[in-house]
Amino acid sequence: MNKKLVAITGAGISAESGIKTFRDSNGLWENHDIMEVASPQGWQKNQALVLEFYNQRRRQLHKVKPNKAHHILADLEQHFDIQVITQNIDDLHERAGSTNILHLHGELFKSRSSNNSNYIYEQKDDIKLGDKAEDDAQLRPHIVWFGEEVPLIPKAAEHIAKADIVLVIGTSMQVYPAAGLVNYISEKCQLIVINPDDTDYNFEKRAVHIKEKAVKGMEALYKVVLENKL
Ligand code: APR
Repeated sequence: MNKKLVAITGAGISAESGIKTFRDSNGLWENHDIMEVASPQGWQKNQALVLEFYNQRRRQLHKVKPNKAHHILADLEQHFDIQVITQNIDDLHERAGSTNILHLHGELFKSRSSNNSNYIYEQKDDIKLGDKAEDDAQLRPHIVWFGEEVPLIPKAAEHIAKADIVLVIGTSMQVYPAAGLVNYISEKCQLIVINPDDTDYNFEKRAVHIKEKAVKGMEALYKVVLENKL
């Protein structure tokens, strides 16, 4: 039986595809105050602005492609039983071919009713003011905003608790509750971090830190796997 590998990924794995990370830009996200565009309060204040912000992100996502880090992670399914737990709202893991993916913070290519989180739809194009769900409520992006519940946390925690290897790629692990997931890592679990920067995860001391950007880091890791050293 293959070992169970859980990959926790964040904005850093998509950076080399051309999507900006969050914390690099002083709390701004593409020049917007994060709370203006990613909170229920921001939505109450200005729905048109929030919709336009995510429409732009969605249009950008049509233009970018998965990079080699996404592809290698998908290829590793030949060697491991892999669960991807991503904080990213892009679909680059899917397009690279990963099969088991949890999107903790939602998905850009989906929309939902602003009154009922069970009414979820495919959304490849813009959401406009006046576009309604089946309950007649305005459609909003299917994104978990700051201050909202993260419904997939228990499922993610279950996977992490059972992991033989946890691979953390390109996330600052600063945003809760996602950041708290590391508390479910078992004692015997092997930990690998791929990040070009220093991190201050609480498990940092017992992790192997490959201090490279995602693509180079995943190439290095793949080599180790092919040499049967993991
Ligand atoms: N390869 C790997 N890691 C990288 C790269 C790269 N090319 N470039 C930057 N990084 C690292 C940074 O050093 C940082 O540790 O990726 C991390 C990105 O961190 P954040 O910008 O905080 O992104 P993330 O951890 O995904 O943010 C979590 O915050 O705003 C919310 O909901 C949003 O899902 C997001 C969450």
